[in-house]
Amino acid sequence: MTDRTRLRTALSGVSVAAVLAAVAVFVGPAGAHKDPVTPQQLKAYEDALMEQVKLGDLLFHGDAATEKNMGVSLSKTGMACAMCHPMTADTHPHTYPKFQAQMAKFATLRDMINWCIEKPNQGEMIDSDSDAMKALEAYIYWSNTGSVLIPGRY
Ligand code: HEC
Repeated sequence: MTDRTRLRTALSGVSVAAVLAAVAVFVGPAGAHKDPVTPQQLKAYEDALMEQVKLGDLLFHGDAATEKNMGVSLSKTGMACAMCHPMTADTHPHTYPKFQAQMAKFATLRDMINWCIEKPNQGEMIDSDSDAMKALEAYIYWSNTGSVLIPGRY
């Protein structure tokens, strides 16, 4: 092999590698693929969220009929969440999970919602996976839209 052919062979190797790298960048990491969402689907997804947000809003404001429908009793003191947390003030969902001094344990937002139901509200703790918990979580997160996630912040 002459020097020139050797150089040409080396260069073609480089260009193949460059093309492969470009293809990899273009295609993106495997597994991150997602089908495009149609405007109709997007609307349905947003409606699903807002339905939960509205339920959570009612629960957060101590609506007796909603509590009854969902089979929960969130307060025995007559205090609704919103009385201490107007517009979800000081619920800080974006700081979870974190170590919570009140419980002396590493806690999720759901743990803390239950802490407030049980302690200040003297209500009955709810199942972490229950519809009521999901609705409260949806309302609290939605109300804090735009907050920067800082798990662990105290
Ligand atoms: C009587 C007043 C009162 C009521 C009613 C109340 N809370 Fe709280 N809530 C508190 C206090 C006090 C804290 C502790 C603040 C702290 O030091 O983190 C707190 C903390 C929280 C936090 C965590 C805040 C953080 O910074 O990490 C969440 C979430 C929360 N409450 C949700 C609820 C929900 C949901 C309800 C209704 C089921 C509710 N609270 C009802 C007083 C109340």
